[in-house]
Amino acid sequence: MSEEPLLRASGVTRFYGDRLGCRDVSFELWPGEVLAIVGESGSGKTTLLNCLATRLAPTAGAIEYRMRDGAMRDLFQLTEAERRFLMRTDWGFVHQNAADGLRMTVSAGANVGERLMAVGNRHYGNIRGTALDWLERVEIDGTRIDDDPRAFSGGMRQRLQIARNLVTGPRLVFMDEPTGGLDVSVQARLLDLLRGLVADLGLSVVIVTHDLAVARLLSHRMIVMRNGEVIETGLTDQVLDDPQAPYTQLLVSSILQV
Ligand SMILES: Nc1ncnc2c1ncn2[C@@H]1O[C@H](COP(=O)(O)OP(=O)(O)OP(=O)(O)O)[C@@H](O)[C@H]1O
Ligand SMILES: [Mg+2]
Repeated sequence: MSEEPLLRASGVTRFYGDRLGCRDVSFELWPGEVLAIVGESGSGKTTLLNCLATRLAPTAGAIEYRMRDGAMRDLFQLTEAERRFLMRTDWGFVHQNAADGLRMTVSAGANVGERLMAVGNRHYGNIRGTALDWLERVEIDGTRIDDDPRAFSGGMRQRLQIARNLVTGPRLVFMDEPTGGLDVSVQARLLDLLRGLVADLGLSVVIVTHDLAVARLLSHRMIVMRNGEVIETGLTDQVLDDPQAPYTQLLVSSILQV
């Protein structure tokens, strides 16, 4: 077993001018672990996620990542080429809005194949074959491989976005409300699929959600945020069954009442 975490956040803080995005967030993420970041709208979840994924520079604090060679590196000290390489190969990022994570005007097959080409695959037949396998893994019929995502339903687009992210065998996937904006029945199916893939691939995941049921189903550990700060953290079952912070108690009880 590795003794170092995959990712370590230390005192991550981000201001937008005078406005607080998130403040002093520290945690470690271990290989194969799914961490949920929960909290109400505006609590700083997306800000934190974007800092972790180097899409946004923190105002203070550090984020270290264990590279494939085992070295812990400060993400904001990487060269642009190293950072791009991580984003293309080792990481995935699943956006809430599938259109932000897909190319809407190229075929489903190309959306998946493009990521493979970005890591050096050149053989057209292999790329198409792998893309087809992945479409089927995310329950998209292979006959749709030449269709644009514009012709897909919301749930299919989200599954395509997931295939595009997972095809390169990332070690870490960031997800921002991956089931937000979908019908409840579509959400349930997508969650089921995600849960299976994450377990099969042994992925590490940081998932942002305001839905405690999503956190319960997918995550091992959770961080509860409010007004940009972490107010509670722990094993998901423990936090949900025995919340300590009054705010978490309120969140949990408001869910149970519906
Ligand atoms: N680009 C920005 N410019 C200025 N303020 C921002 C920006 N993005 C976020 N904020 C502010 O930072 C705080 C945290 O926002 P953030 O988007 O991280 O919250 P969130 O928990 O993801 O909310 P939601 O659940 O609605 O997506 C909010 O007060 C928000 O107004
Ligand atoms: Mg958000």
